[in-house]
Amino acid sequence: MVNTKLLPLVALISGRGSNLQAIIDQSQSGQLPVEIRAVISNRLQAQGLARAHHAGIKTHVLNQQYTHREIFDKTLMNLIDSYTPKLVVLAGFMRILTPRFVHHYKGRLLNIHPSLLPNFPGLDTHQRAIQAGVKEHGATVHFVTDKVDQGPIILQARVPVYPDDTPDILAARVLKEEHRIYPEAIRAFAEKKIIFKDE
Ligand code: GRF
Repeated sequence: MVNTKLLPLVALISGRGSNLQAIIDQSQSGQLPVEIRAVISNRLQAQGLARAHHAGIKTHVLNQQYTHREIFDKTLMNLIDSYTPKLVVLAGFMRILTPRFVHHYKGRLLNIHPSLLPNFPGLDTHQRAIQAGVKEHGATVHFVTDKVDQGPIILQARVPVYPDDTPDILAARVLKEEHRIYPEAIRAFAEKKIIFKDE
């Protein structure tokens, strides 16, 4: 039976899928009112695909044969829309999306980034945080806009940075918090506690 109170979502991944797993776990335990209709990866080797299979969620791989960015994104949009989601969740999806894609999902496209934005947008955030000598680091859930890593912030988690931290140690500390705040932000969205406003 379809539960109409569940928010339909599609998740996009490229790799490990531990954030996806946190969302799956909370949805299965009834803590998160979502129905994950599909998981789409741009990499066949993404470990997250096995996690989705295990949870009985439909998966798709859209690989690099669509080299032209516009064509890839149009194909991706058609695939996502065939599941009529009310929310699209980027969970370690390692591709920059076209403005057309981002506009199409305006106000219903979320991302998690492993830093306290606006600090350390982009890649290698943990290493850069250590090199910069910051005392605090963390993760951010935000709406996606066409300015990469700059959309409105929904939730952040802070962790300390210790003098002997390596990027891997720091990443693990941050990841634990990611698994807490991503489902929390999605829950707030599903319960209409947050609304996207155009800046
Ligand atoms: C996470 O650190 C997330 O913040 C970043 O990519 C990583 C994905 O990890 N966007 P996982 O695939 O969810 O395990």
